[in-house]
Amino acid sequence: MAEMKTQDAIALLKADHRAVEELFEKFEKASGSERKRKLAEEICLELSVHAEIEEEIFYPACEGKVDDDLLKESYVEHDGAKVLIAEIMNGGPSDEYYDAKVKVLQEEIEHHVEEEEKRLEGLFAQARKADLDLDELGQQLASRKAELTEQFKASGIPTPRLTTMDEVSV
Ligand SMILES: [Fe+2]
Ligand SMILES: [Fe+2]
Repeated sequence: MAEMKTQDAIALLKADHRAVEELFEKFEKASGSERKRKLAEEICLELSVHAEIEEEIFYPACEGKVDDDLLKESYVEHDGAKVLIAEIMNGGPSDEYYDAKVKVLQEEIEHHVEEEEKRLEGLFAQARKADLDLDELGQQLASRKAELTEQFKASGIPTPRLTTMDEVSV
């Protein structure tokens, strides 16, 4: 059996970012409810798995080794995205605000990805400079990603667990 190609943690997370950016671009061009729903669900799945592996594995590994304010902002940004993801998953293309929610999610993710990938002071740049075993973390991320993707595909994306805020009730 061919050995699975292993990526270091940052390469893996960046590849996830590129994949979801591509899905957002496809959504922008898409017409037809079923196509839109399928793409939006793919976006939500990718982002849910990505946020989960970052919060379970990568962010804790960065704790104490990168700027604490930036790391805290990352968790809050994830929670903001999770709220929109839940809204999108609970809705459908015929909803008045569906496309707007996907668009705002895209904009939020663009900002968040920039905070992670920004040269020199971004989270990943700081992690690169820190004393982290990025190869080992990459393996952990890859195996958890495979596990969660399978799980979420089989039984649906679970209601997101918010890390930095209580459930909002209005
Ligand atoms: Fe990320
Ligand atoms: Fe993130």
